[in-house]
Amino acid sequence: MGGDKQDMIDQIPEQLVMINEPAVQGVIAIHSTARGPAAGGCRLWHYDDIATLTTDAIRLARGMSYKNALADLPLGGGKAVLQLPKGHFDRKAAFEAFANAISRLGGQYITAEDVGTTVNDMKIVRETTPFVAGLTNDGQSDKAGGDPSPWTARGVFASIDAAARMVLGSDLRGQTVAVQGVGNVGTYLCQLLHEAGARLIVADIDERKAQTVSTLFGARMSTIEDILSVEVDILAPCALGGVLNAQSIPQIKARLVCGAANNQLARPEDGEALMARDIVYAPDYVVNAGGIINASAEYLGETTQQVEARINAIAPRLIDILVQSRAGSTPTNRIADAMAGAILRDSSRQMCDNAA
Ligand code: NAI
Repeated sequence: MGGDKQDMIDQIPEQLVMINEPAVQGVIAIHSTARGPAAGGCRLWHYDDIATLTTDAIRLARGMSYKNALADLPLGGGKAVLQLPKGHFDRKAAFEAFANAISRLGGQYITAEDVGTTVNDMKIVRETTPFVAGLTNDGQSDKAGGDPSPWTARGVFASIDAAARMVLGSDLRGQTVAVQGVGNVGTYLCQLLHEAGARLIVADIDERKAQTVSTLFGARMSTIEDILSVEVDILAPCALGGVLNAQSIPQIKARLVCGAANNQLARPEDGEALMARDIVYAPDYVVNAGGIINASAEYLGETTQQVEARINAIAPRLIDILVQSRAGSTPTNRIADAMAGAILRDSSRQMCDNAA
């Protein structure tokens, strides 16, 4: 089958559940349950209309299937996207309504935090349904759990560190890193980069967050317009998706792009555009798997040691992809997609064989 056709088929979700309640509107997209229940966080963000929101949910859900497959988790991929109401809204009622929708799916979808949602929101969800991770752990045992963001940051940091050695030929001491978005993950990442001796440039639409990181870690502040094109060695997109596109790619000065944001490439072809400019792109869902690894371990009752072992495998996996990319002159995103797609198709075949 042709690559484009296969790509279109691979995007089709198994199930789309619309949430249209007085307290909240949104979508739960279940991309695949071939490897287990569809797991992926809940995003609360403003979208112009429900079509744009749904398209984003479908793309994010497929990203989760690929991420979970490559991280070797016994999980499929899904995502919930909720429309952030303008102005004040009843947050508790919104997450209760969301929890009811999850409940009705009977365990086919497991949620956790994502952009715009917090540990507290997940606690509200937990009052109604058990199909949620990312809650605070008790701090008493070695059981995994709690906020996924520091774990995501650890995987991204290890990836930046390993890729910098390969691409830039040195460790992070003295390297300049631009971080777009210093929210939950971005802030932890800045701390790790700072401790490793990197120099930071940061931007956030919420200037207070950028200011805090600047004070804590000596980061220089940039504008949100300039952050992608500043003169740096490494660019770490840690805000929203679609930032690597036809407008931004020609402006990027960094030689390595490696960050936490999901769906950084606006289109798969942007992987070719980056490669043509000799910019090495670390596929987002390969390097940002730390959060779901921790959430999955919490859900499955695993320990933090098991989480650490899985997170330690992220950077070597990335290097394997970078090596294959160099050897075959193929963009890194194409290599990662091919690897993940093959794992998923294999799992689907096994599921069909077992059902037969
Ligand atoms: P967050 O909501 O805490 O942080 C995102 C930050 O980006 C916010 O501070 C926001 O003000 C800022 N922002 C938004 N648009 C911006 C722009 N155009 N320029 C500069 N700043 C902008 O979200 P979080 O949890 O830190 O996630 C960041 C990214 O990483 C998201 O794409 C998310 O899907 C992804 N991710 C997060 C994981 C986690 O464990 N939290 C796991 C895997 C991926």
